[in-house]
Amino acid sequence: MNKLKVLITRKWPASVEEQLKAKYDVTLNKDDRPLTANELKQALLNYDAICPTVCDCFPANVLNVANKRCKILGNFGVGYNHIDIEAAKAQKLIVTNTPGVLTESTADLAMTLLLMSARRGAEGDRLVRSKQWQGWCPTQMMSSDVTGATLGLIGFGRIAQAMARKAHYGFNMKIVYYKPSPAEQPIIDKLKATRSNSIEELVQTADFVSLHCPGDKSTRHLMNQKMLNLMKPTAHLINTARGDVIDTQALITTLKNKQIAGAGLDVFENEPNIDEGLLQLDNVSLLPHLGSATITTRTAMGEKVINNLDAFFMDKPLPDQVI
Ligand code: DGY
Repeated sequence: MNKLKVLITRKWPASVEEQLKAKYDVTLNKDDRPLTANELKQALLNYDAICPTVCDCFPANVLNVANKRCKILGNFGVGYNHIDIEAAKAQKLIVTNTPGVLTESTADLAMTLLLMSARRGAEGDRLVRSKQWQGWCPTQMMSSDVTGATLGLIGFGRIAQAMARKAHYGFNMKIVYYKPSPAEQPIIDKLKATRSNSIEELVQTADFVSLHCPGDKSTRHLMNQKMLNLMKPTAHLINTARGDVIDTQALITTLKNKQIAGAGLDVFENEPNIDEGLLQLDNVSLLPHLGSATITTRTAMGEKVINNLDAFFMDKPLPDQVI
C-alpha cells in the first residue's frame, strides 16, 4: 500500500524526522527555507497532510484551493494565528497543535527576558563586547529588583501559570493576573495570586507586565499607547505571546521617552523583519522567537504532531484538535 504523503515545511529535530519517515512518505525541507504562499497552495494539492510552523501563513486565499488532497494541518506549535481558522473550517480541513509540551521552556524564556530586562543583561553584554567598559563603579548600569516585585500576567493559561510558579517560588514575586473569569481556587491559593478587575488596573500595579494571551483579532494591539501610558515608569513589559499583541510604534515611543524602564521581546510584528526603531534602543532586550527552542521541547512538539497525524489517519480521537 502507498504511504500517505506528508510535508514538513521546516527542518525538525532529526529524531522526529526519522520517526515520521518510518511511517509516511515524507518530504523534508533540508535547506530549512520558508515556503512561499504558492508553494503552500501546491502542497495542499499534493500532500495528505502538511505540518506547518508559525512561519507558514495560511490566510483564506491560500487555503481556498479546489480539489485539494490535504486533509489535515498538523501544526508544529501551540499558537495557530498564522492559520485562518474560519477559512480552514470552511475548507473542511482538520487543524491540530502541540499544547502542553512547551509550557515550561516558554515560561523559562519569559523569566529569562524578565531578568534580562530588569538587570540590563543584553546592554551589559554589549558594553563588555564593545571594550568600552572602564571597570566597576557604584553607579554604573543600575537596574530594577526582581525579587519581591509584582508580576502582572495578562492571560493566565498554562504558560502564564508556569511563569507565575517560577516567579513566586523562585523570586518571591507577588502574582497578579487578568483573565476574564477567575482562575480555579487551588491555583490561586498555591500562587497566592490576585485577580485584577481589568487589564488597565493590572498594568498600573505591576512592576513586570508579561503577555500570555493568544494572538488574534481581539488581542491585536492590546498594548497600545493608552495602555502603555498606564504602566509605572519603573515597569518592564515582557512578550513571549505574539508580536501583534503590542503596538510596536507605541512601544518604541514609550521606550524612547523612557516612560517605562524596559521591555523584553521574543516575538514581533512582521517577524523576522524587526522594526529598525527597536534595534536602535538600549532599553529593550530582543530574542529571536526562542520560547520553545530547547531540544527536548522541540522533539516533544514533533512527537505530538506525529501522534495527531497517526490518530487522524487511523480514525481515532485527535489528541490536540483545534478544529
Ligand atoms: C508556539 O508554539 O506557538 C511557538 O510560538 C512557535 O510557534
